[in-house]
Amino acid sequence: MLEDSPVLRFARANIAGRSAWCPVLPPGKTSLKLYRIAVFLSSLLLSTPIWVLAQEQSGSALRLDTGERIFKAGCVSCHGSDGRGTPKTIAGFEPPDTFPDFTRCDQTTAEPDSSWKAIITHGGPYRGFSQIMPSFSEALTEEQIDKVIHYLRGFCKNPHWPRGELNLPRALVTEKAYPENEVVISNAVNAKGAPGVESHVIHEQRFGVKNQLEVDVPVQFQDQNHIWYGGIGDVTLGLKREIFSSLRTGSIFSLQGSVLLPSGSRTRGFGNGTTTFETFAAFDQLFPTNTFIQFQTGADLPRHTGIAPQSLFWNTAVGQSFGADGGLGRLWSPMVEFLAGRDLQTGAKTNWDVLPQMQVTISRRQHIRGDLGVRVPVNNTAGRPVQVMFYLLWDWGDGKLTEGW
Ligand code: HEC
Repeated sequence: MLEDSPVLRFARANIAGRSAWCPVLPPGKTSLKLYRIAVFLSSLLLSTPIWVLAQEQSGSALRLDTGERIFKAGCVSCHGSDGRGTPKTIAGFEPPDTFPDFTRCDQTTAEPDSSWKAIITHGGPYRGFSQIMPSFSEALTEEQIDKVIHYLRGFCKNPHWPRGELNLPRALVTEKAYPENEVVISNAVNAKGAPGVESHVIHEQRFGVKNQLEVDVPVQFQDQNHIWYGGIGDVTLGLKREIFSSLRTGSIFSLQGSVLLPSGSRTRGFGNGTTTFETFAAFDQLFPTNTFIQFQTGADLPRHTGIAPQSLFWNTAVGQSFGADGGLGRLWSPMVEFLAGRDLQTGAKTNWDVLPQMQVTISRRQHIRGDLGVRVPVNNTAGRPVQVMFYLLWDWGDGKLTEGW
């Protein structure tokens, strides 16, 4: 009877899984028998949290009804009572680079609850993390997992860090409000009209609690009268700052100021030929249904308005995220952007484009994503070709390119 208890089976499965990586003693000089015993003992040790949880679940003295109790019973042996991680001499494993220190807001606030829930429920490998992080799907209920996540959030004492839930799926054109650590390679290929490709290599890097630097290097290839020309365009250096964010209301607001250097050839049409100052505001709103809307509006102000006109733009992205596997797995985010731009010249018209698209997470860790869409001019279509647009995005704050698959 006892043999068949799911808790026992679960613990045994865990022990079996553990021995594969257990780093206690390498074979080689030590006798294999001793090594096996050491592996077995350390596996037992590491499985204690699950045993303790299992025993306490079955109605003994302590009840696992608060996040703190759950954490103390099931997590401290590896994560430490202060959330910084147990010293490796005691924990008995070599912590991976990504091993969390829950008191470090810079490491934890960017992670949405859904990522933590996925890892606690299904174990580290479910999101491309180490298998040392066990799965608690059999030892804890969903409600208990939510409670322990709430408890983990208490380790970061500074409430001013914007929360990762407000890091909405990146649209192809509309810039979002959340400050990011990412590299994006974004491309637009003319589907009609003059052949041409424009790529942007964008590097974004956070600093401090609310700030982000951005460098955007455009690379252009165009067929002009049957000869292909290539070159870089006007390089952007930008600084973004989050002004306001609230997880409770689901809102985030940021301002950005940028300088576009005249690095692109004006004669080829790759650049403005004058330094341009750009400023914009971004406001994003997430709804409880995982529907979202992102607004971005701003102005481009060239230094020499004689050769490049000032212009205004206002972009909107509306979308919805669907997570596979009860919201914990691969994320699909269909979106539509409505893009408007207007030169500040007498007689200039507002150009409108629509851009339906689909973003999808590619790696298990969700730190590599792709987006594909078609940008269609709605009015003033002369000289404004339909474009196929796509990007590849790497959120390098979450791991190396080779990790997390
Ligand atoms: C056997 C040791 C062990 C136990 C027990 C354990 N963890 Fe972990 N946990 C780890 C390791 C190791 C990692 C890091 C995995 C990686 O980065 O590859 C981790 C990662 C995590 C993460 C991911 C954080 C991030 O960076 O995104 C969360 C959340 C987490 N653990 C929560 C818990 C909770 C809650 C419990 C108890 C219910 C628990 N862990 C029990 C070892 C453990």
